[in-house]
Amino acid sequence: MELNIACIPGDGIGPEIINEAKKVLDAVSIKYGHKINYDTILLGGASIDAYGIPLTDETIMKAKAAGAVLMGSIGGDANTSPWYQLPPAKRPEAGLLGIRKALNLFANLRPAVLYQELEDACPLKKEIIENGFDIMIMRELTGGLYFGERSTTTENGIRKAVDTLTYDENEIKRIAVKAFDIALKRNKKVTSVDKANVLDSSRLWRSVVDEVAADYPEVRCEHMLVDNCAMQLVRNPGQFDVVLTENMFGDILSDEASMVTGSIGMLASASLNESKFGLYEPSHGSAPDIAGMDIANPIATVLSASMMLRFTFDLDQEADEIENAVRSALQDGYRTKDIMSEGNQLVGCSGMGDILAGYIK
Ligand code: IPM
Ligand code: MG
Repeated sequence: MELNIACIPGDGIGPEIINEAKKVLDAVSIKYGHKINYDTILLGGASIDAYGIPLTDETIMKAKAAGAVLMGSIGGDANTSPWYQLPPAKRPEAGLLGIRKALNLFANLRPAVLYQELEDACPLKKEIIENGFDIMIMRELTGGLYFGERSTTTENGIRKAVDTLTYDENEIKRIAVKAFDIALKRNKKVTSVDKANVLDSSRLWRSVVDEVAADYPEVRCEHMLVDNCAMQLVRNPGQFDVVLTENMFGDILSDEASMVTGSIGMLASASLNESKFGLYEPSHGSAPDIAGMDIANPIATVLSASMMLRFTFDLDQEADEIENAVRSALQDGYRTKDIMSEGNQLVGCSGMGDILAGYIK
């Protein structure tokens, strides 16, 4: 099969981790007889440096023309990088929000998995994680506070800022349907998270989710308030399967969930539209402080590439092959700095890429 992949190396450690993901993808394509065409495109800081803006029409066009987009990460150090002297709409993050909207990537899947081999890195007590956990956060990605009307004004000498949180029922329904479809392939439970005791948008969210749930009798559906969910994630993460929530809550809860795994350098993500098209990227950021040092963990990006093979290209066996390579590397004791512990072997970013590709022969 011929795979057309648009690659966004991005900023910070982005280019390094993308290189390693390509190594692993190339190993898979040799083994299974696929042909991969990469088209490198710019976003975020790299695009600002080249064109003065974080997202160009050319990037959108090339991304749309590809089968899928594989991204490293974007953004720099907000205190030191000149990108952050620009107005907010021209900063690297605006490029990311822009491409999500332009490609209609409304469904953001962020798995938070506890790896048995890395249990020591989990900040939770042993008795809490005894039975492990495997959570899929489904975050709505193109609506809510991120894309509502906003303004900053001064009235009678008083500065005032407004952000608005809007959802219509169609936006809620399409992400809910995806969440229930995914739950069917997992442990058949959806926890929908909202703030229905305060917000109108959450009350609508809850009722639309209930309507969708009625079409999935085999999936258990429960509702949870977002503040409670933040607590439950550290109290009993094993209770969750699919967590369905709106954009801002999902941003916050997905960081929390990834932190409780203790291995954010291992977590992938996918952002999907109505069809099978998606943008795949690690859940972590661009870590500008360690860029170019060959110490970043490429596994989250490698696993994002595996999600891409599974969700966009329907290549389940090839995706399994990558996940097994990651598992083997962990079992054989290979660790990058962020997940290093005594008795294991420390490897760099490119070393880890070589090792992972080496299992795929
Ligand atoms: C994320 C990030 C982005 C977001 C930022 C960089 C705009 O935090 O992907 O979670 O808030 O969505
Ligand atoms: Mg975030």
